[in-house]
Amino acid sequence: MQTPEKIRSVAGDREQWEQLTLLSFMERRPEARPVFRTLGGLPHERVYTPEHIALDYGRDLGFPGAFPYTRGPYPTMYRAQPWTMRQIAGFGTADDTNARFRYLIAQGQTGISTDFDMPTLMGYDSDDVRSEGEVGREGVAIDSVDDMHDLYADIDLEKISVSMTINPSAWILFAMYLTVADERGFDRNKLSGTIQNDIIKEYVSQKEWVYPPRPAMRIVRDSIVYSTQNLPRYNPVNVSGYHTREAGSTAIQEVAFTLAAGMAYVEDVVRAGVDVDDFAPRLSFFFVSQIDFLEEVAKFRAARRVWARLMKERFGAKKAESMRLRFHCQTAGVSCTAREPLNNIARTAIEGLAAVLGGAQSLHTNGYDEALSIPSEAAMKIALRTQQIIAEETGVVGTIDPLAGSYAVESLTNRIEQGCFDYFAEIDKRGGVVKCIEDNFFQIELADAAYDLHRRKDAGERHVVGVTKYRDDSANPHVELHHVDEGAANRQLARLAKTRAKRDGAAVQRALDEIVRVAQTDENIMPSTLAAVKARATGGEIINALRPVFGTYVETPVF
Ligand code: 3HC
Ligand code: 5AD
Repeated sequence: MQTPEKIRSVAGDREQWEQLTLLSFMERRPEARPVFRTLGGLPHERVYTPEHIALDYGRDLGFPGAFPYTRGPYPTMYRAQPWTMRQIAGFGTADDTNARFRYLIAQGQTGISTDFDMPTLMGYDSDDVRSEGEVGREGVAIDSVDDMHDLYADIDLEKISVSMTINPSAWILFAMYLTVADERGFDRNKLSGTIQNDIIKEYVSQKEWVYPPRPAMRIVRDSIVYSTQNLPRYNPVNVSGYHTREAGSTAIQEVAFTLAAGMAYVEDVVRAGVDVDDFAPRLSFFFVSQIDFLEEVAKFRAARRVWARLMKERFGAKKAESMRLRFHCQTAGVSCTAREPLNNIARTAIEGLAAVLGGAQSLHTNGYDEALSIPSEAAMKIALRTQQIIAEETGVVGTIDPLAGSYAVESLTNRIEQGCFDYFAEIDKRGGVVKCIEDNFFQIELADAAYDLHRRKDAGERHVVGVTKYRDDSANPHVELHHVDEGAANRQLARLAKTRAKRDGAAVQRALDEIVRVAQTDENIMPSTLAAVKARATGGEIINALRPVFGTYVETPVF
């Protein structure tokens, strides 16, 4: 982009500016701090110039919808259609959550995102003793395909894409979703949706697992293979950096660990004999949009570029779609405060804008009550309106990747890209992703970064408005919160009892025995799971049947 002579001339001009203008100015009025750092810890230059970006336009930027995809996965981006507005919902029984979905769709939401309660996530049925007090509390309770039918009742699954945030039990919920679609007569070729199904980040940061990493990876592999062969528009994994970043990682770690996990899934599926170009186009990703605006825009751009290079150079992908990273984004829960909760609307708007300027495909903007409870209807409405204002009023949809060419953003993009490749070299040296999980490598790196972030906050390098600065103890506005319906758990128990009473118990047992048989071989686990789910086996029954085959996992804690 810049010739060496031009860069030398800028360097000369800068030195002159520092001597003649800056130094005397700073003698009279020093800067507030000697060093400014991004939230992710990268030091900022005072001012970025062409000296700070060794950029080759064709190699590093290119055009939207073309390698290396820095500028976006599609050639027209939001000029054709905005990103998918996908607010999460999940509470109570299937009927309760279905009503919230329909409310949000009526308000203009364009995608669905489902959050399940802790028992469903962990594979406990609602009547398991371990589920007590948790049924329908922080997500929707789904025990069997009968619940799944009600969850998406009256929603056209060929027209709206459905995301399910589900991990250790993902393949079972996936089977339930497909069974609902089949039983309602939808065309599998038109079904569009996503299961999170990213078990690696569970061991790294979210800590919700059932089985040890290796059998858990096999299940993920089977669901990707099955989806590739049966569901051309479905995204069978949403490789997620969100939880790692929320746990205190840096921006570089968020991208590096996520893409490393993506590579581990690719390696497993390729090893199973599937051509990389057959499944890579439907791999999908999930990142947070934090409050450090410039760093976040750079992060999304870097993630796309790094993935494109990996797919092309490391995995030999040939199809353009295999190299094109598509991602969902959620604004940062940890950036929201319990004090003065309406301030979260401002934070979320800024984070949402960063996601859009970074080229997100799908977005959840947090409710102002994020730090207080799961979101109320009122909070979700304003959060959705925030996205609609970005799409309809700000004008940012008119031009693609508008921050490209900004010296600051390009410099950050380059540094994040380099940081990722440094991590990949380290992970390779240590024997790969699963070995790194077992050896606690990611966990230790993350813990160190989280400690450093807290230390910087404690040292006053970063402030939280209304909490660590400008705190007003006289005013903390009251907001109406989501009301937990204590009757929901009993309603769910009654639903589960009804399903158990009406099904053919012997057929369920035969189906469970078949899954156990398959689990002991290298056959794909999806067909037998689909058969069991169709026979109305519950999630808990399937998970429990497989415990003796796959075993359990205890992590060595890191402090
Ligand atoms: N021109 C033409 N077509 C376009 C276009 C354009 N400019 N832009 C988009 N399209 C097309 C796409 O090609 C696609 O068509 P296809 O399915 O036939 O390929 C269609 O329009 C939809 O566009 P996208 O695929 O870009 O958007 P989606 O919203 O369908 O998918 C995704 C986005 C990231 C790939 C997908 O994986 C997704 O939606 N993920 C959501 C994940 C999610 O919601 N997660 C929530 C997690 S919450 C959590 O974990 C927190 C807590 O609960 C613990
Ligand atoms: N409903 C809506 N949002 C939820 N989240 C988690 N559970 C729910 C739910 N049941 C969102 C919150 C949280 C993030 C991890 O996911 O924003 O911070």
